[in-house]
Amino acid sequence: MLTDKIVVLGITGSIAAYKAAELASRLTQAGVRVDVVMTEAAQKFISPLTLRSLTHRLVASDMWEPLEEHRISHVSMAQAADVVVIAPATANIIAKIACGMADDLLSSMVLATKAPVIIAPAMNVNMYENPVTHANIEKLRERGFYIVEPCTGRLACDTVGRGRLAETAQIMGAIKIVLGKNGDMAGKKVVVTAGGTREPIDPVRFIGNRSSGKMGYALAESARDRGARVTLVTAAGLPEPTGIETLAVESAAEMLAAVQKAVKGADALVMAAAVADFRPKVMAKSKIKKATLSLNMELERTPDILADAEGNFIRVGFAAESENLLANAKKKLADKVLDLIVANDVTAAGSGFGTDTNKVTLISRDGSETDLPLMTKREVADKVWDWVVTNE
Ligand code: PMT
Repeated sequence: MLTDKIVVLGITGSIAAYKAAELASRLTQAGVRVDVVMTEAAQKFISPLTLRSLTHRLVASDMWEPLEEHRISHVSMAQAADVVVIAPATANIIAKIACGMADDLLSSMVLATKAPVIIAPAMNVNMYENPVTHANIEKLRERGFYIVEPCTGRLACDTVGRGRLAETAQIMGAIKIVLGKNGDMAGKKVVVTAGGTREPIDPVRFIGNRSSGKMGYALAESARDRGARVTLVTAAGLPEPTGIETLAVESAAEMLAAVQKAVKGADALVMAAAVADFRPKVMAKSKIKKATLSLNMELERTPDILADAEGNFIRVGFAAESENLLANAKKKLADKVLDLIVANDVTAAGSGFGTDTNKVTLISRDGSETDLPLMTKREVADKVWDWVVTNE
C-alpha cells in the first residue's frame, strides 16, 4: 500500500532528528518516494547528506534556492505529497503551524498542502507540558492534523518524562492509517482474533498451543491499512499495533466474552486464533505439588466462539490441519456455518505456527477453492480481505 506513494518528511531541530533517518530508510525500503525538508536547526543535528543517501533524493531546506532539477518548491512539494509527516516536530514548528506562519520552506509547505499532515512531537517534558504547546497541539488536532503522541522515557536533557519521539513503528503505522483512510474497507468495522489461548491448570500452569499471533496481527494491520476500524482480540501478548483497538485476553472464556462484545455492529469476524478445544474442568487454587505421584485432570470442552458469535456479519475461520487438509477444513466450514475458511497446511515448510509465511487454501461457502502459494502472512491477510470485500 505504500509503494509509489509520496511522503514529504519534515525534520526539525530536535536531538531526535537522527531517528528521522530510520524512518526515511524504512519508508524508502517500502517503495515510498521520500522528499525530505529540513529546517535550518535540523541540520545542526543531522546532515542532509545522510537523508539524501538514504532516500536517493535531493534534500530541500532553503525557500530561496529551489532545487530546479527536481522542481522542488514549497508549492510543488505541497501539491505532490500524498502525506506530509513532521518527525520530530519541535514546539516551535507546532506553534508556527498552529498560527499559520510561513517563514521557512517547511512551514510554507504545510500551509500550502491539501495532503493530510502527521505531526510527531519531540521535546523537553516541560516544553511539551506547557499549556501553550498543549493548546497548539489541540488546535492542530481539531483542524484534522494527525498527532502521533510522544512517549514517556529518558529525554536528552537527562530528565524522565513525556516528550520522546514516538517509535518509528508507530509513525509508520500512522502513515498507513492516514493513507488507508479512503481504502476499500473505509467505514467497515471488523474483529480479528489472534494467538493461542491459555487454559489455566493451577496458578502457574496452563494448557496452551504454539500460535504466535503473527497471522492475526497481519490480518488486523491489513484491514487497518485499507481503512477499516479494527478490534483485535489477542491472546498473543505482542505489542499493540498503532490505530487498532487491542483487547488482551488469555483463556477461551475471556476471548468469547471479548468477541461477543466486539462483534456488535461489525461487518466481519475473522478468527485466526488457535482456541483451545478443551480446558481443565476445575482450576486448582494453589500450585499442584510434584510430590503428587500421578495427576488425573478432567477436561471439558471450551465454547465455540466462532460458531456461537451472534450477529449478521461475514464469518471467516482458519483451520490448521496436519492431515486431510481440505476435507477437514470443509467440515469446519459447514459445521460452524462460515462464509470462508482458510485451510492452513501446518506441515508445509514455512507454513503454520510461528512462521512469517503461510501456505493456505481459501474455501468459500459455495465450495469454490483458491489454492494460494507460500506467501507472507501479510499477503495471506490481504487475500482474505480481498475475498471479504468482494463477497459481502
Ligand atoms: O499465530 P501464528 O503463529 O501466526 O499461527 C497461525 C495459525 C496457524 C494459528 C492460524 O493460521 C490458524 O490456522 N488458526 C486456526 C487454528 C485452528 O486449528 O483452529 P481450529 O481448527 O481449532 O478451529 C477452527 C476455527 O474455529 C478457528 O478459526 C478457531 O479460531 C475457531 N474456534 C476454535 C475453537 C473454539 N473453541 N472456538 C473457536 O472459535
